[in-house]
Amino acid sequence: MSSSTKHPHVITCKAAVAWGAGEALVMEEVDVSPPQPMEIRIKVVCTSLCRSDVTAWESQAQIPIFPRIFGHEASGIVESVGQGVTEFEEGDHVLTLFTGECMKCKQCTSGKSNICQVLGLERRGVMHSDQKTRFSVKGKPIYHYCAVSSFSEYTVVHSGCAVKVSSIAPLDKLCLLSCGVAAGLGAAWKVADISEGSTVVIFGLGTVGLAVAQGAKLRGASRIIGVDTNPEKSEKAKAFGITDFVNPNDLHEPTQQVIKRITDGGADYSFECIGDTGMITTALQSCCDGWGLTVTLGVPKVKPDVTAHYALFLTGRTLKGCLFGGWKPKSDLPLLVDMYLREEIQIDEFITHNMPFEDINKAFDLMREGKCLRCVIHMPK
Ligand SMILES: NC(=O)c1ccc[n+]([C@@H]2O[C@H](COP(=O)([O-])OP(=O)(O)OC[C@H]3O[C@@H](n4cnc5c(N)ncnc54)[C@H](O)[C@@H]3O)[C@@H](O)[C@H]2O)c1
Ligand SMILES: [Zn+2]
Ligand SMILES: [Zn+2]
Repeated sequence: MSSSTKHPHVITCKAAVAWGAGEALVMEEVDVSPPQPMEIRIKVVCTSLCRSDVTAWESQAQIPIFPRIFGHEASGIVESVGQGVTEFEEGDHVLTLFTGECMKCKQCTSGKSNICQVLGLERRGVMHSDQKTRFSVKGKPIYHYCAVSSFSEYTVVHSGCAVKVSSIAPLDKLCLLSCGVAAGLGAAWKVADISEGSTVVIFGLGTVGLAVAQGAKLRGASRIIGVDTNPEKSEKAKAFGITDFVNPNDLHEPTQQVIKRITDGGADYSFECIGDTGMITTALQSCCDGWGLTVTLGVPKVKPDVTAHYALFLTGRTLKGCLFGGWKPKSDLPLLVDMYLREEIQIDEFITHNMPFEDINKAFDLMREGKCLRCVIHMPK
């Protein structure tokens, strides 16, 4: 394996390939093309497993695209740059971005949105620029995931889908800011803009839900109610600011009824962090008339449609969704890195497991069994 920035050539390395929906990943020797114009090739250092990887791998509500390399929450070091790239150079520390920022399109320049029209969420398993893949196994193309595909020792991303970070920040922790932790904090701060003294209810206490809790706590919310069907989440949740834990399986009445009672008619804000569209309705019913705001972050595992009684909206509730917590990834992520370095936000506490790359299937097992928050997968040095 060798490379040179001036004339990068194909790299052959190990990648965890999903050959079919729900099938265990297989370690394969993959060929990784040189970066094309405006792209960079990254040596992945660490990548954590997010629920969205698992949902797409199971492909129950999404079009199955296989063979494919998953992974979108990652940190790494630039190995080589393609033609026209001036922003990055070999050796830069970077985080990958599953939703990019071109800085030029209507959305990027609006000041209102992080949904780039050019480098937004890629759903077809190819690169944004030419609709082709940069991976192959024995000449057979392997699809990408979100144009990131970090379950590979090397990957190619568009230069608008990576952000340079301080070289003193630990890459094995920082990878969590590449998706889950940033998504939760942004939902609390940028999207909901939680105010001091308010009441918050969070459905789903995985990394995303607990990052919302952390954001709510830092904003001075008076009560942060966490709802989860896994009783093991209760203890861990307290460390992130959850003041009350509700397990729907222990209740003899609908969850929203309990929430309404303990919040005097409904919470100021509710968040759906499960990936179950049915819970969006429950979340709407759990917030108050007049100004109640529901923010949905989950990626549905099965049914993609949302249903809710119109009266919920006539009485003043709002439903909002967000990708990556509304952060403009290139512009805003360095601020979160600085906050972490100043110890103003927690990241390390979300890491329940560390494992070598060859054990990646264990991370999938742990997440499906509800036994982890984030498993950080360490690439060989
Ligand atoms: N919008 C975004 O930018 C963004 C970013 C990252 C993840 N996501 C999505 O957010 C969701 C959460 O991600 P995560 O990584 O924290 O997932 P996770 O699987 O770690 O956490 C989900 C939690 O929901 C709980 N849960 C499951 N069913 C439930 C039910 N019926 N009632 C109450 N609790 C229930 C689980 O026990 C678990 O604790 C996923 O759908 C993921 O795909 C979205
Ligand atoms: Zn994610
Ligand atoms: Zn754009």
